[in-house]
Formats: sequence, structure tokens, C-alpha cells
Amino acid sequence: MCGIVGYVGNQDACPFLLTGLRRLEYRGYDSAGIATLGESGHLHLARAVGRIEALAERIAGAPMPGVIGIGHTRWATHGAATPENAHPHLGGAGNVAIVHNGVIENYQILKEMLIEKGYQFHSATDTEVIAHLIADALKTLMEAPASALPRQGGTDGRNAMFVEAVRASLPSLRGTYGLVVMFRDRPDLLIAARCGSPLVLGVGRGEQFIASDTSPLVGHTDRIIYLADHQLAVVSKDSIQVVHRDQGRIRPEVRILEAQDNDVSCEGYAHYMLKEIYEQPTSLRNAMRGRLDRENATSKFGGLNLTPSQLRSINRIILTACGTSWHSALTGEYLIEEFARLPVEVEYASELRYRNPPVDHDTLIFGITQSGETADTLAALREMKRKGHHTLAICNVIGSSIAQEADGGVYLHAGPEIGVASTKAFTSQLCVLAMLALYFGRLRHLSYEAGQRIIDNLEALPDAVEKALECNAVTRVIADKYKDATNFLYLGRHYNFPTALEGALKLKEISYIHAEGYPAAEMKHGPIALVDEHTPSVFLLSRSHVYDKVMSNLQEVKARGGPVIAIVDQYDKKLESLVDDLIEIPAVEDFLQPVVAAIPLQLLAYHIAIARGCDVDKPRNLAKSVTVE
Ligand code: AGP
Repeated sequence: MCGIVGYVGNQDACPFLLTGLRRLEYRGYDSAGIATLGESGHLHLARAVGRIEALAERIAGAPMPGVIGIGHTRWATHGAATPENAHPHLGGAGNVAIVHNGVIENYQILKEMLIEKGYQFHSATDTEVIAHLIADALKTLMEAPASALPRQGGTDGRNAMFVEAVRASLPSLRGTYGLVVMFRDRPDLLIAARCGSPLVLGVGRGEQFIASDTSPLVGHTDRIIYLADHQLAVVSKDSIQVVHRDQGRIRPEVRILEAQDNDVSCEGYAHYMLKEIYEQPTSLRNAMRGRLDRENATSKFGGLNLTPSQLRSINRIILTACGTSWHSALTGEYLIEEFARLPVEVEYASELRYRNPPVDHDTLIFGITQSGETADTLAALREMKRKGHHTLAICNVIGSSIAQEADGGVYLHAGPEIGVASTKAFTSQLCVLAMLALYFGRLRHLSYEAGQRIIDNLEALPDAVEKALECNAVTRVIADKYKDATNFLYLGRHYNFPTALEGALKLKEISYIHAEGYPAAEMKHGPIALVDEHTPSVFLLSRSHVYDKVMSNLQEVKARGGPVIAIVDQYDKKLESLVDDLIEIPAVEDFLQPVVAAIPLQLLAYHIAIARGCDVDKPRNLAKSVTVE
């Protein structure tokens, strides 16, 4: 969702801010803006609805000088996507500029209080309230005698009043924020503050950077500091000081940012989504690197933070997630129950957080998330943690909120996923879940031989995925044939039931075609009414103990004149006359079929979306990190 960038240094701020906002585009947004502070103390402000290009054109027409500035991409929550509602917002008499991610739940009460004090509002946003609150706190501090100014644990004396104005305003805010403040009267000061919305600081030489995730920082610095909740960063071109809101100055941990320029560029592919689809053989190898233990016929994980004996006493697992990650969780249920004979429940995080189910002591909770920032998943894990359960994250983004807050977990190591539609993170999640199922299985009853076979299959998986990518050309032809359909069905059984759900979600989110995924046998209980000559059904027809069953379901669709696209892992002559289109993928053991079958599903959605002229990397209304409930 919304994105933040900030810069203070010795160069023009605008180029970094604009490039940074472009790198944040993937998060989803509908307007953008930048504010810089010129030498004369003039605050320049530009905001535009739509793409960053609209903002860039505006700035090209009216340059915004200044070596300090803040920028924002907004995904509308309070108030429509208009230039007035776009950030930065100004407070007081225009002496405070602010960008904000998150939601201020009590903004209405604060707004009324500020209006009574004479502050004028120009937007419908919750953010403008913060700008005026800080301006008001600053005014009070300026009017107070110098002796009344609280000592700000170690911050530079000249900035103390400004830091205090921000610090003193924060306790009034209910909700979440990641924010950066710039003051018209402090040309070498940015203040960042966080509560529930991530912020990362880039440590430079003679210049410092702020962003809501690491992508804008790549190529500018490799030293970063993650701000934690209730911390403020006091940033000037030569220093970054971190202060806890209530406990004074703290020494931040400086980490190394490992991403490189090519991680955040398209590298010759037409879209990030296509690049990420093709990265899957590599991302799968990375997910498995160092985690398969042949000698003991098991897998190993460094970060679960539980002893084997504690893990052995687990008698139930809850997997919680949203969207695509929830589909991985469903597959995880099948995997863990089969290999480890441990009961697994899969919960939408948005439901789990408010449902208050009975969860006994020996239950382990996994949150599955690409971004590590999904608000519902974070809240569900917090709720489970509050109740005393050990929470683990299966997460891609290193240093994300969920990665930091969970008691332990497993990183996917899939690399940055920029396309809004999750592809490589999905298959890496499946791979990690298969390795966890192996691990839990080997702690319990799974034999050495069975463990070895699972490892053999996992090791062969990246090559199978490489081979599956060869279906790109045929998928493009099929996409062209069905691009004008208005409904699709996706049908599969057993391990491929969640894969069918994921195939339907991929198509919906990037092509805007209505699609439903079902366990193939469920079709007869309602969805079959949708079948006609205009509604294609995508069947996942891999060889397994349910192959014949799925074949019968396929016949039922054909008998009603519905076009069938079959994804098969073994050529079968009789299929030629039965189905309308065939996509062949390599045969793998049934527990890994969802990984291989995901490839044609991703490519089909991609090519249909392209044929319909859709923006696959930035589909309408969607955000990469869903940081609001
Ligand atoms: C994936 O294609 C979707 N854009 C979306 O469903 C996503 O999986 C969901 O929002 C959860 O995100 P997370 O994995 O980052 O938590």
C-alpha cells in the first residue's frame, strides 16, 4: 500500500525521491507527491493523481530544488484519490510537512479539537491531523520559556524542540503510523517515527535516506537500520540518532542490505511478474539451500527457536495467512497431515484475529506471508502470541514486521517480489512447507527411506520447474483464444485443489476476469450451472490416486459443452479428442505437483492479462503489502 521516501544530504533530493517512488509503485497506489525545502526556506510541494509519471511531468515543468525532501505514494483510505488528499500534507501555517503510512483511527476527534483551535483542513485524510498536531505542539513549545523544554535524551540541542514536538504528539494518535516530518525552519532535519508501519533508514556518507521498505535504498547504501515501534529517528545529512518515544536515546543495530540493483529492475523482461515467474528454479534452490539433511533424511531450520523435544510435543498446528499465502497454507495442511500425521487447521488471518477459537497449549502457530507486513496476519500472530502461543513466520521480506515480531521462523529467500501477483513467493512457500512437513514427519513416525525419497523429489524440483517453463509458448496461444471470456473455472483435487484456487486468484487479480476455483468434485454442487460454451474450465489433471476421478469431472464439463483446458503431466492420446487445449508439464510426485502446476497457471493469467491490455504488475485497486485491515 502507501510508500514513503525521504532524503537529506548534499545532492538535489528530487531525483532520489522520484526514483524511490517508482521503486515503491509495486506496493499499489493511486496518487503521489513530493515536498522539498529550497535554500531560501521555500517549501516546494507537488502532488498528482495517477502514476508517478504524472508527478514527474509536473516537476519537470516546475522544478523543485532542495537537498532535503520527502515523498509518498498514497493508496486511498480516508478520502478519494485527489491531489488535495495526496501526501505530503502541511500543518500549521505550512511550516510542517508530513508523509504518513497507516491509519489514524481517532482522527475525527483530533480533527474537531484542532478545528476548534483554529487550524484549517484542506483534505479528507487522517494524515493532515498529524501535521496540525505537530505544528500545534511546536507552537506551544516555542511560546514556553526555554527552561520548560524537556531534555531530549541526547538529541542535538538545536533540534530538540522539533523532536519534542513530534514526540509529544505521538501518544495522542490511535492506530498505526510510519511517518516522516520535515520542518520549513530546519533545512537539515527529518524526523521519522514508527508504530505498526515499517520504516527503514539508509545510512550514507554526507547523506541519509528513509523509506518504507528497502527497495528505494538499493544502490544508494548497503547499511540500513530498521526502526522499531515507538522509536523516532532524528536524521540530518551527517547523522542518524534513534530515540525511543519514552525512554530516550538508543543505539540502533546497523544491518547490511544484501539486495542489488538487478533485484529491483526488470532485467530485460517485459514485466516484473514474468521475470519472477522465470526466477522460480532459482528461488526454489535458494529456499532449499542448506536445509536438506541427507544424512538424517530430514530437513533443518535454524530459526524455529524450539528444541526438537518441544517440537515433538506439538499436537496441532494452525497455519494462518491471507490471499495467495492462504492457498499455500491449504497445501501445507495436506503436506503436514500426510507426512507428520499432525492435525493442521488453516485460518484466514482476518478471521482468526477476531474469532477467539479454543487453542490448546501444544498448538504451534505459523503465519505465512510474502511481505511480512500484512495487517491481518500480523494482528492474528500478535493475538496468538498474547495468549502465550509460540508463533512462527514463513516469510520472504527480511526484517519485516512479522519477521521481527514472530518468535521464530523460516525465510523464503525468494528475493524481492515486485509484481503485485505473487508467483515465486508462492512456490517457495510450498517448498518450505514441504520441508517443514518432512521435518515434523521425521520427528515422529516417518521412516528414513520415506525421508530420503522426499529429499530426492525436492532436489529434482527446480529442474522440473525449469522444464515446466517451456509451456510458455503454448500458454500464450491458449491465452489468446480465451482472452475475451468473462468467467473461468479452475478445478483440481487433493494437492491440486488449493492450486486451482490459486490459479483462479491469479487470473482474477491481473486480468479482471471472474474466475472460481473449486475441488473438482464440488462442481456438481453448484458451479456446474455456470458451464456453457463461453466458460472455459482449467483442469489440473496430474497423475495421482484421484486422476480417474478428475477425469470423470472433466467429462461432465465436456458433456455440457464447456471448453476444457487440461494441464497434464503425462501425455494421454485419448485426451486429445476430449479436451480443447492441452498444456504438458513434467511429472513429479503428487506432493510437489502444486509447485509445477503453478507455472502454467501463472503464465496463463499473465498472457491473458497482457492480451487484454492490463497492467499486470500494478493491477487496479490492489496493493502488494496490505497494511490495513
Ligand atoms: C497475491 O497474488 C495477492 N496479491 C495477495 O492475495 C497476497 O497473497 C496477500 O495479500 C497476502 O500477502 P502476504 O503474503 O504478503 O501476506
